[in-house]
Amino acid sequence: MLLLATLACDPVEDSGDPMVYAFPEGFRWGAAGAAHQIEGGNTNNNWYQFETLPAFEGKTVEPSGEAVQGYDRYEEDADLVVDLGADVYRLSIEWSRVEPQRDVWNEAEWQHYRDVIEALRARGVEPMITLHHFTEPIWVQDLTDLACEAGPTDTNLCGWTHPEVPAEFAEFCAEAATRFGDVVDEWTTYNEPGGYLLSGYLGGAFPPGYTNLTVETLQANVIPVAAGMLDGHAAAYAAIHELDNTDADGDGTSARVGFTNSIQWIVPVDDQNADDVAAAKRIQALYGYIFPDAMVNGLLDTDLDGIPEEEHPEWANTVDLMGYQYYYRMYVKGVPGFPPIEAVPCDPNALAVLGVDPSVFGCPYPNEDDVTMMGYEHYSPGLGLLAPALAARYPGVPLRVTEAGIATETGRRRAESIVQQLAGLSEAIEDGAPVDGYIHWSLTDNFEWAYGFAPRFGLYTVDFDTYTRTANEGAEVFKTIIADNGIRQSVWDEYGLGEHLSPENE
Ligand code: BGC
Repeated sequence: MLLLATLACDPVEDSGDPMVYAFPEGFRWGAAGAAHQIEGGNTNNNWYQFETLPAFEGKTVEPSGEAVQGYDRYEEDADLVVDLGADVYRLSIEWSRVEPQRDVWNEAEWQHYRDVIEALRARGVEPMITLHHFTEPIWVQDLTDLACEAGPTDTNLCGWTHPEVPAEFAEFCAEAATRFGDVVDEWTTYNEPGGYLLSGYLGGAFPPGYTNLTVETLQANVIPVAAGMLDGHAAAYAAIHELDNTDADGDGTSARVGFTNSIQWIVPVDDQNADDVAAAKRIQALYGYIFPDAMVNGLLDTDLDGIPEEEHPEWANTVDLMGYQYYYRMYVKGVPGFPPIEAVPCDPNALAVLGVDPSVFGCPYPNEDDVTMMGYEHYSPGLGLLAPALAARYPGVPLRVTEAGIATETGRRRAESIVQQLAGLSEAIEDGAPVDGYIHWSLTDNFEWAYGFAPRFGLYTVDFDTYTRTANEGAEVFKTIIADNGIRQSVWDEYGLGEHLSPENE
């Protein structure tokens, strides 16, 4: 009996540092990056044009330039993933590198990505590949001729509404699956297609920089882009399954194909006010549900009333794994007549696009310590709260957190954010949410799109003079959690208890 009792004891439990938030055995831990944000030298895509063409001056604060030299430092970065103790790294293949001109493959670039993937696998890290992380080759849509006066031609297909673009995207995905099926099992077609759609075609903060702020123009100009992307996704889903027949990691599955969805914790300003409640639902439907509703259920909300009605069986059942990516809480005020969908998003960035002062609509001001370098409100419980909401809306679809993180220069804030968000996620999983992993955004600081290099998301802080990477407090706490596969009392006591995040260092 004594022997049995001794064997049953966890030595660390005995040391007085019990596990307070555990994760299931086999839970996947990882970090992420994306080609344009880390590599440097991506001059053949829409983002480069957006950063450099005079027509878009003021849309971005600085060009991506060398980014964080990730193209050449991939071995060093693979070592950082190992240093974390993580077993998955989420990265993207830059379409404009491997297919610089329509239907022309660049063999050296394909070899480069094979080298990157093999560097990871040689270290025991599995790649999760994103095929579209906001960027497209210039030949898909050349921003120097946005009106498409000279096109469409093979050097400018004029964007997603051209009937051949979805097939072109699927061809690129098929080529990737053919070439890398032996070393990749997890594929993501699009990163945050909802964010891409609204930023690029509703608010204009991303290329191609269009604004469509009425229901009519959204229906005419934005829904067709979504439909093109959905056609591309469905074709890519079929192609990858056909072409990737090798189980690279030996888990019995050769290809899991899905996408990653941006979804925030969106709540009414006043939960007793029917207009606010309905408006919050419409915003969530537009931002967080358009793509998953279509890819899982084959439904599209073409009139933007928040209820999908158009049936597209050809898009349905094309998500083997749904990533979800969470960053902030956003309040919504229902305001009759306010374009485009009678809902004011209390997000300073969105309101700046709309030219509206948040206080006018009674938007609550978050505690200043919870406001991140991105201007929005960090809200830890959101990550865990979204898991059951997604599981209920998409029953049977496995979930993974494919991004969560915080823009801060203060490692302690990052550490608090990680610990507090993961506590909520652990509880959601305990309650049955089917989340199989957590991938932190991001491995290193990088190019934060329109905001340039100021917002720092990295577990590893980059010195932009030398490009050296240094673990910050966020990385240190993340390592401990990964090693323990959970949060122990001491970690919770140190980082979990604050009502608000610690202030940003001066
Ligand atoms: C994107 C990343 C971005 C991150 C932080 C996500 O929307 O996928 O590319 O850097 O959020 O803003």
